[in-house]
Amino acid sequence: MSIDYSHINKFSSFIKNKNYLFSREEILSVLNKETIDKAFKSLSGWENYEPTPLLNLNKLSKDLGLKNIFYKDESKRFGLKSFKALGGAYAVAEVSAGRKDVVVATATAGNHGKSVAWGAKRVGIACKIFISEFVTETRADEMRKLGAEVTRVKGNYENSLDECIKQSKENGWEIVQDVAWEDYQKVPKLTMAGYSVMIEEISKQTDHYITHIFLQAGVGGMASGVIAGVARYFRRIPKIIIVEPKNADCVLKSIDAGKLTRVEIEKESIMGGMSCGDVSLVPWQILKNSVNNCMSIPDDDIPLSVAMLAKGYFGDDNIVAGECSAPALISINVSCNNEEIKKDLELDMNSNVLLIGCEGDTDLKLYNELLSKGSEQLSNG
Ligand SMILES: Cc1ncc(COP(=O)(O)O)c(C=O)c1O
Repeated sequence: MSIDYSHINKFSSFIKNKNYLFSREEILSVLNKETIDKAFKSLSGWENYEPTPLLNLNKLSKDLGLKNIFYKDESKRFGLKSFKALGGAYAVAEVSAGRKDVVVATATAGNHGKSVAWGAKRVGIACKIFISEFVTETRADEMRKLGAEVTRVKGNYENSLDECIKQSKENGWEIVQDVAWEDYQKVPKLTMAGYSVMIEEISKQTDHYITHIFLQAGVGGMASGVIAGVARYFRRIPKIIIVEPKNADCVLKSIDAGKLTRVEIEKESIMGGMSCGDVSLVPWQILKNSVNNCMSIPDDDIPLSVAMLAKGYFGDDNIVAGECSAPALISINVSCNNEEIKKDLELDMNSNVLLIGCEGDTDLKLYNELLSKGSEQLSNG
């Protein structure tokens, strides 16, 4: 038996948003046009800025009976290998605004902190990073290499954030967090504005109207930043489908309930950056009406998807896609391998699907493990 795409078919839940009502006006009142435009103007002027590639997964689209499947390859973003490079680093530049005596601080699961550390190094200011027990030493070292001082805090992400807030208050440091709470919204909005740059680039990289976007979510910052970009740059509004890990489907649960709903994470997903129990406050204001559907998936098909992407099964390129990029592939395969979902989403030969390959081998050790497990599955058929 040989492996083909139909082996990637596992999902846990699929729901429709009863409150769907896409309104450009409303979205751009949460994240306004000026903030979005300023982010692109600033980021596109940075040294080594280059739009990341928009790849065409032509083999997969042919096999699934779709017109095009585009894959935005964020593994090439500023050498940081993740879309997060657009968020934290941009917020650091805005917060410090040219001053050299500012110290920035953040709590992180990895990629956001790396972006903040890189952003601080870029503008020549000091950076303090707080991480939990669960962040690997590989990730901590990468932030240290960028000049950040890394403090490990006992407990989970919430504990590291509490410590970051406490020490920042005591020392007068500027917190650069990508998650919003009641009285902390300006900086998370800057990170979202940074993420909208992906859509500005895509609007110039293809003449095809995108009909569907599959968006991975943790706290929803990336998804809402991309949706704000859609409201700002796209002429036609695509269907928007959120993808989350089965054990951390806080956007799905919130959309289903029509209000913010917390998920207690019982088991951490391999999709580490997406393993979040709460939707962030500002993203929720955008997501609640603009998302058409939500899907949650188990970890099972991640290694196989990583290996198939790496070996060029889906198109002409060999793609380095980390654990949070694989869900993009899984979700489009699941949707097309399930007749009911395919019909619901109106996926057909006129569809131009956009997938976001949000990260490359940001955690090299984990990437190699996933690749080797998936390659074994491929060779065992
Ligand atoms: C590496 C990584 N971290 C985190 C996330 C989640 O982002 P957010 O928490 O902004 O929803 C993603 C993608 O959704 C990702 O690829």
